[in-house]
Amino acid sequence: MSSRSMLRSPLSRRLLRPVADLIDGRIERQVRSAVARTAAERTPGGQDGGDGGNGVDTERLVRDVELLRRRQLTFELLLGPRGRGISRMVAEAPLERLYAEVAKLAGDRDAAVRNVAAAFRLLVALESLGVGRIAGGTMNICGKLGTIPLLDPPNDEVLEIGTLYGMFSAGLVRMLERDGRSPKLTIVDPFAGVQLQPGSEQRPDPTGAPVDERAVRTNLGLAGPAGAAARIQRGFSEDPATRAAVSDRRYGVIVVDGDHSAEGVARDLEWAEEIAAPGAVVVLDDYGDPHWPGIKEALDVHLKGETRFSYLGRAAHSAYLRAS
Ligand SMILES: C[S@@+](CC[C@H](N)C(=O)[O-])C[C@H]1O[C@@H](n2cnc3c(N)ncnc32)[C@H](O)[C@@H]1O
Repeated sequence: MSSRSMLRSPLSRRLLRPVADLIDGRIERQVRSAVARTAAERTPGGQDGGDGGNGVDTERLVRDVELLRRRQLTFELLLGPRGRGISRMVAEAPLERLYAEVAKLAGDRDAAVRNVAAAFRLLVALESLGVGRIAGGTMNICGKLGTIPLLDPPNDEVLEIGTLYGMFSAGLVRMLERDGRSPKLTIVDPFAGVQLQPGSEQRPDPTGAPVDERAVRTNLGLAGPAGAAARIQRGFSEDPATRAAVSDRRYGVIVVDGDHSAEGVARDLEWAEEIAAPGAVVVLDDYGDPHWPGIKEALDVHLKGETRFSYLGRAAHSAYLRAS
């Protein structure tokens, strides 16, 4: 892992947060004392030789800064990392990059911008009301929610392999409905009480909420009747019994987001070959994410073999495939 991506890892961020808070505090104190010094200099009798007008300006500036700080605090409670473990603040450069990537996949810049913005509002709303969170970075989530409807899946059957809290599926249902579709959702997950990932340390979710079927049902309920009607299959996607239970149809959308190891992804892609409808959109989550190198590895190998899938492109950390 490069030192840059090490610094960006959730663990490093958590460890470095006290240092960042300390630096923020120091900067803030320096700004405050500079503003106070300027105010003292400019008030009557100060360095400006009694220019009362400037003193009033400076007082207003101090008040405005105070107001902005309060607003920022409120904003951070809504979008900051506290209680969720990941920030939903957006920076201009990644957002512009995402617009461009989604526009390239969809062939329509205006629709890409509209959908990404709608997806962002939906993400914030779902995480505010729901149990748990949607997994992953903000750009990746908005990319998936925004892009899938724009790729015009051939039918409304949606399969998510690996759901965690079911909140992404709830969002996808809503995004597809906004596009005039009638999504029918199937979900496969072991619901192990934590997020299972081979080779990764298992620890409680940063939101503190248990990963269980009850949470998934609550979150799907937020997506209205189509969410409430979702078919939930408990089990591992590689288990023959799990596969048999949900291989009764051809899916127009398949989101592969379960076992992130190269072997696990390879198995899910093989299964997806069998159950994808002609023209289906297959999304491979966390593709190119340095934390999960096995995902790209598995797709690269898969695409070299005999396959119905062609690679459409990527947006943030997701790859998009189309079935023939
Ligand atoms: C990254 S999370 C899914 C996040 C979710 N799709 C979202 O966007 O919020 C991965 C999920 O897959 C589950 N999982 C792990 N191995 C699996 C397997 N073999 N089959 C199905 N799900 C699996 C994990 O327990 C976890 O709930």
